[in-house]
Amino acid sequence: MLIGKRILLIVTGGIAAYKTPELVRQLIKAGARVRCVMSQGAEQFVTPLSLASVSGDKVYTDLFSLTDEHEMGHINLSRQADVLLVAPATANTLAKMAHGMADNLATTLLLATDKPVLAAPAMNVRMWEHAATQDNVELLKARGVHLIGPDEGDMACGEWGEGRMSEPHAIVQAVVDFFDADAPLKGLRAVVTSGPTHEPIDPVRYIANRSSGKQGHAIAQALHDLGAQVTLVSGPVALPDPVGVTTHHVQTARQMKTAVDAVLPVDIAVCAAAVADWRVDGEAEQKIKKSGTQSPSFSTVQNPDILASLSIPGAARPRLVVGFAAETESVIEHARAKLAKKGCDWICANDVSSSTNTFGGDDNTVHLVTRTGVDDWPRQSKLCVARQLARRIADHMRKQDTSEQPGETA
Ligand code: CTP
Repeated sequence: MLIGKRILLIVTGGIAAYKTPELVRQLIKAGARVRCVMSQGAEQFVTPLSLASVSGDKVYTDLFSLTDEHEMGHINLSRQADVLLVAPATANTLAKMAHGMADNLATTLLLATDKPVLAAPAMNVRMWEHAATQDNVELLKARGVHLIGPDEGDMACGEWGEGRMSEPHAIVQAVVDFFDADAPLKGLRAVVTSGPTHEPIDPVRYIANRSSGKQGHAIAQALHDLGAQVTLVSGPVALPDPVGVTTHHVQTARQMKTAVDAVLPVDIAVCAAAVADWRVDGEAEQKIKKSGTQSPSFSTVQNPDILASLSIPGAARPRLVVGFAAETESVIEHARAKLAKKGCDWICANDVSSSTNTFGGDDNTVHLVTRTGVDDWPRQSKLCVARQLARRIADHMRKQDTSEQPGETA
């Protein structure tokens, strides 16, 4: 199934484009979210309106549309997809892809993307068999483009042979197979905490921190993208829920702990939330009023430590528990101490002093502290940090399965 997968379907100008509304319908039925891009040639065979109707989304056709660029930069179209699927992929489009040409929105997206590309060729048998096309196909395959078909059969031009676009159900199956092959965390359950917590003082005031939730949310998405079944427990953030991830919204640390406990047992736990360490002892039931010049004083009590409680050895302990250490000085030293104190397996240590703009910003510099050493990752977007961490987790789980790494986890 393709639940939550985001597919950017690029339709180019072959007769087989008439099958794309059915392809979109079947992809959506399998759980995918489909957004369509059409070349001008494709519009001769199927209308943007048909694809907009079946996809339930705007169809993008124009590289130089200021309105589109304003709503959604063309690079963002591919950033927001898990894969790009070119169907039908004409001989001309394959040639442009192979040679790095970017003369319309479809080919520009294909050149500007770092996402996996799947292509379902469709053309006359002689065009398919031509050495030029075959060379282009080999070049594309060598670069990692996944070819779907083409099939053999009757052609629109009256000839018979190889070059027909695969049927929609076969393309959908190939997309499912593609995701299954790149799903090293398939069958594993993960819980991720993200964002700040709000600890009420009275009905209108609370204690909070500057966490945006961007890093935690990106990790939940990245684990899902590698096939894990992910539950995200999020404090108050201004972010959309990650696609395909079950998200629970909470306000306080205690609610976060209850929500996390309700998801157990899991295989992987990542605590990226900036949980408030304290709450006010005895939240006022009514708004606290000013009384003369006297300022109110509060006593505080400690909140439960979610990461530490997840790390307690026992049968219910996740196989891998990852925490974060938000530090403003001696980052590695503090992270090492935190790893020992909390009993987790890894700590992603990051410097959150205000000069780094990490809290609330889009980039992060992570030092991955494990029991065996420290890996210094480059400064990169929180999205890339999340993908690197998810890959590292997948490698670890695989090695643990094959017992190559005894004793790295508790
Ligand atoms: N954490 C948690 N529950 C808490 C406090 C922290 O699960 N009540 C987790 C965070 O999600 C993070 C890690 O513990 O993964 C470390 O959080 P951090 O705020 O850096 O450390 P603290 O434990 O709060 O220690 P200190 O404030 O002294 O640095």
